[in-house]
Amino acid sequence: MRRFDAREVTEPLCRIADLPEGRSVGFDPLNEGRDTMFVIRKGDSIHAWRNLCPHYDRARMAWKKDEFLNGDRSRIMCAAHGALFRIENGICEVGPCIGQQLTPVPTVQRDGALWIDGIYAPGFRR
Ligand code: FES
Repeated sequence: MRRFDAREVTEPLCRIADLPEGRSVGFDPLNEGRDTMFVIRKGDSIHAWRNLCPHYDRARMAWKKDEFLNGDRSRIMCAAHGALFRIENGICEVGPCIGQQLTPVPTVQRDGALWIDGIYAPGFRR
């Protein structure tokens, strides 16, 4: 298997208790050197999305490490052109890609930890 083939991730992303309420946290499950997904915990709900803006193919969204939200943390924001997405369903409500959706990352909670559920593909071109 080549280093950047899609594959099962054998380590949890994090402990659930370590996810800060209402904030975004980026992860690099395949050790590509950059965060290829991010997670937002809101109460008992956890929302996980790929770090790929639908406006431009594979555009990264955070303006700095772990900062995927707008100022009042009510929506996901792409730093490139300001698109705003609903945290709960990843749909763009404001900006250049209205109606398009972020790519969800299936996750599962097990023994107090958050895992990717299934195969995970690399996020960046080589
Ligand atoms: S690349 Fe995300 S809004 Fe343009």
